[in-house]
Amino acid sequence: MCGIVGYIGTRNAQGVLLKGLSRLEYRGYDSAGVAIIESRKLNLVKRQGKLRILADVLKDDPSKGTIGIGHTRWATHGVPSDTNAHPHLDCTGKIAVVHNGIIENYLDLKKILLKEGHKFVSETDTEIISHLIEKYYKGNLETAVSRTVKLLKGSYAIAAVHSLEPDKVVGARCDSPLIVGLGEGENFMASDVPAVLDFTKEVIYLDNHEIIVLTRSGVTIKDYDGRTISKKSSTIKWDIKQAEKSGYEHFMLKEIYEQGDIVSNMLDERLRAGKISFEELAIKASAFKRFKKIAIVACGTAYHAGLTGKYILEEYVRIPCWVDTSSEFRYRNPIVDKDTLFIVISQSGETADSLAALREAKRRGAVTLGICNAVGSSIARESDGVIYTHAGPEIAVASTKAYTAQLAILYLLTFYLGKLRGAISPPKMKKLIAEFKRAPELMNELISEYKDPYNNIAAYASEFKRYYYEKHNKSYFLYLGRNINYPNALEGALKLKEISYISAEGYPAGEMKHGPIALIDENPWVVCIATQAKTYDKMLSNIQEIKARSGIVIALVTEGDKEIQHHNVNYVIEIPKIDELFSPLLVVIPLQLLAYYVAKKFGYDIDQPRNLAKSVTVE
Ligand code: AGP
Repeated sequence: MCGIVGYIGTRNAQGVLLKGLSRLEYRGYDSAGVAIIESRKLNLVKRQGKLRILADVLKDDPSKGTIGIGHTRWATHGVPSDTNAHPHLDCTGKIAVVHNGIIENYLDLKKILLKEGHKFVSETDTEIISHLIEKYYKGNLETAVSRTVKLLKGSYAIAAVHSLEPDKVVGARCDSPLIVGLGEGENFMASDVPAVLDFTKEVIYLDNHEIIVLTRSGVTIKDYDGRTISKKSSTIKWDIKQAEKSGYEHFMLKEIYEQGDIVSNMLDERLRAGKISFEELAIKASAFKRFKKIAIVACGTAYHAGLTGKYILEEYVRIPCWVDTSSEFRYRNPIVDKDTLFIVISQSGETADSLAALREAKRRGAVTLGICNAVGSSIARESDGVIYTHAGPEIAVASTKAYTAQLAILYLLTFYLGKLRGAISPPKMKKLIAEFKRAPELMNELISEYKDPYNNIAAYASEFKRYYYEKHNKSYFLYLGRNINYPNALEGALKLKEISYISAEGYPAGEMKHGPIALIDENPWVVCIATQAKTYDKMLSNIQEIKARSGIVIALVTEGDKEIQHHNVNYVIEIPKIDELFSPLLVVIPLQLLAYYVAKKFGYDIDQPRNLAKSVTVE
């Protein structure tokens, strides 16, 4: 949700800000803007639409200043427009502010400011911040920001500049991410690490209720009571090249293709002489022995990974486990206590609902474990222990590689806990690990089949489009799965609707007769995951029931399946043979590719689908 960048140094600020914003565009892309101080005046340019529109405007009349702030927006208050785009100014036009988050009490504050004579031009909640800073400004921006933030309720990361103080950028955070990038004679602030990685690898992660002042020569961090805080910096280990398309047409395709290698690297890193190691994990083995239940919360794709986690944890650790979406968890009265291992899964580690759920679980006494991709993220830092998925930066809004990495960590965690609690015997463990080790190679085998642009899934997508337009002018997808692949049915449907805007629903196949079967005629396409021995016959019956009602079936079967040809399915996708425990790692790949090729056929913006943002940092 919204990306903010602040810069002060000796380089051309416009170039730095545009580069930083381009790295943050995954957070929101309905408008963008910059405010740069030049000759003690603010140069403000903002435009509705993608960043490139702003960049084109700036190209014609470049700013020479070396200090400024920038923003890429995901609209919350007020439609995407030039006026609602950030930065927002005060009445004097000297103060500019960019903001990520939601100010919940903005209407109350606005009423007061209006009475005092302030003039508002936008419909945003953010604009009150610039006017509050104006109200409290007595020649020191830091003091004015510090008085302002004490009045704000809600979530925010802000950056502010004053044209008469061209030697500082001031920022603050509360429940929205903000990092500092440290340079030589220059400093940066941003919503996320990629924004500064072209310039520095030294970063400081800010915590809630901290105010930072960037100057050319240094950075000071204070709490809201003005006490100086000293914080250590961290060196980012990954390279900005990992956040580039590297010749691929879309980040999503690149990230789908990376999945086999990510799992392979993870196994190399986590398995030492047959032992599972989570080096970064601060929770002691003895603590893991005493839990009586496991609770998993997450949102979206990470929630689907959590659902798979329930199947494997209950089977191999024999502890009751429930899974909730973070937004539901935080508003009910869950039975979470000191006997609960509370696992929160999040690619970004910044999802507002997941973070709030984590805090609630801590408040109730649970031991909390974060499974995160983004190193140093809020969830990673606030959990009692963290396990990183190390999938590298995921840029496409539709999550793919983070999902398989989360699944892989959940397998490892299951085996780790199962062994620790005596639920998995050493020989069984050996067998499980040996089979798991086959997965990355099989994932890569499957992926390489689809590197041919004329692959069968691309062809099915083409037929779908033709069918969709020519015959019905409307169609939709139903995804059916059972048992450990039921979450993949949900995930396949989510991927499709996110990037192709086609209605799609995931269902446990056994539930089909309890409702969704009413939808079946010659119109919907039904994706049936029929790879598992345990439930294979049941899925074949479901397929028969769909075909008897003229439904169109894409069946995902195990390589070498001879039976499926007798069932009159329309399309077949083969998955390499692996123990069904690990089949979710493979099954999801064609589902991701199906969504990708359908969206591509329709010509949609695959990496930046409408209305979505990568990291949902507001409720
Ligand atoms: C997946 O494709 C999504 N864009 C979305 O559902 C995502 O998984 C969800 O917002 C959770 O994000 P997180 O993993 O960063 O917490």
